[in-house]
Amino acid sequence: FLAGSLGMATVPFAGLPAALAAMPEPQFPPDFTWGASTSAYQIEGAVTADGRGPSIWDTFSHQPGRIVTGENGDVACDHYHRYIEDVALLAQGGFKAYRFSVSWPRVLPRGRGTINQRGLDFYDRLVDALLEKGVAPWVCLYHWDLPQGLQDLGGWTNRAIADWYADYARIVAHRLGDRVPHWAMFNEPNVHAIFGHAIGSHAPGLTGWNNYLAAQHHQNVAQGKGIGALRSERSSLRLGTVISLQPVRAASTRPADEEAARRFDALWNRANLDPLILGQYPGGLAEAFAPLIKDDDLAMIHQPLDFLGINYYSRAHVVDDPNSILDRANFGPLPAGTETTAMGWPVEPAGLFEILTDLKGHYGNPPVYVMENGACYIDPKPQNNQVDDPRRVSFLHRHLLAAQEAMQQGCQLKGFFAWSLLDNFEWAEGTRRRFGLVYVDFATQERLPKASYHWLSRVMASNG
Ligand code: NOJ
Repeated sequence: FLAGSLGMATVPFAGLPAALAAMPEPQFPPDFTWGASTSAYQIEGAVTADGRGPSIWDTFSHQPGRIVTGENGDVACDHYHRYIEDVALLAQGGFKAYRFSVSWPRVLPRGRGTINQRGLDFYDRLVDALLEKGVAPWVCLYHWDLPQGLQDLGGWTNRAIADWYADYARIVAHRLGDRVPHWAMFNEPNVHAIFGHAIGSHAPGLTGWNNYLAAQHHQNVAQGKGIGALRSERSSLRLGTVISLQPVRAASTRPADEEAARRFDALWNRANLDPLILGQYPGGLAEAFAPLIKDDDLAMIHQPLDFLGINYYSRAHVVDDPNSILDRANFGPLPAGTETTAMGWPVEPAGLFEILTDLKGHYGNPPVYVMENGACYIDPKPQNNQVDDPRRVSFLHRHLLAAQEAMQQGCQLKGFFAWSLLDNFEWAEGTRRRFGLVYVDFATQERLPKASYHWLSRVMASNG
């Protein structure tokens, strides 16, 4: 995300490396879950429809200067009114599964208290439409759109939020649990804590080390409480959570950068994985979190999960930076010659292999789903009803091959969800950054599947 500001040179796309192109295409197992992901605030729009309350992203995106393009998510992809068309796109593409998130302020407009049945009705209709078309719904309970009413009480910095979250989770599971088997408790709590509460480039726009620590720890506790709530609501539910994972590299061989890389790895990856899977915060951060840890917090966080969701985009290349709020570590320059996407993010399929083998080696080889992988490119405007996006195809292709390699090493990868079904509201970047398999014309709301959608359809249909 800092690539632009670091002035990195982008490297022209050279196509699929010859060695990869020549390899026989491996098969995925017959029960492999192929899906696509979205999130509520990024696609739904309809922010005041049917009793929805405001979220922190409504507040934030309406503040001048927060969103690069000056946009907000008031309309986004208008999915709230067009979900039937979007479900049809999933079905036509042959997606077996769809991960969407539930907007907390649709269900509880002030975050707690009175339930808004009309908000729940929307997800009822969406789930039924998916099932009717043979697409399995996967619900994510929290993708960053906290009700503003809870932010006014301190949001994720207030420890009481773990109970508010568990209550909300139970309410949604009570309504949808009879038809939705797979539940993700959080999406990228690490990114929410870091960008939303330490750096302030995402909602709620808080900054500082203490806000980071509180937001990370309280999301971890909420995750544990939420899992307990859902298990008691309906024991058959398959529960997991979704974390953004990045292998971390020092941007140089300087010992200070090597040290910074270790600190960043603890902060980005292990502050989530370690308490969840190993029962403790990683060395180096354990002391920082200690004052926040109360009662049986660590036992609460350390819960068996049915699956781990990971979002993978790239490695992080890190420098020591005395001015960085992130434990003196910061994103640094990429190795010379690195290919990048239009976000400036490095294209590093081997990093996905590294993540999966690390989960096997250090975290007991849990069943894993890639819940997001995809790329932002400057797509050409539709021509003759087509959008040609060969770089996105190549990106997905190379990551699927890396995933295959990890599976051959015994990693338990069970599924792959592309980010994203639709071009959408890319947070602080607005709609100028497109990750969709389906092109969205934001002026007319017309959808048009890109070449990558058709390509992935063929991969999914042939399982290879
Ligand atoms: C991860 C986030 O979960 C998603 O909301 C975002 O759009 C993608 N990364 C791309 O930045």
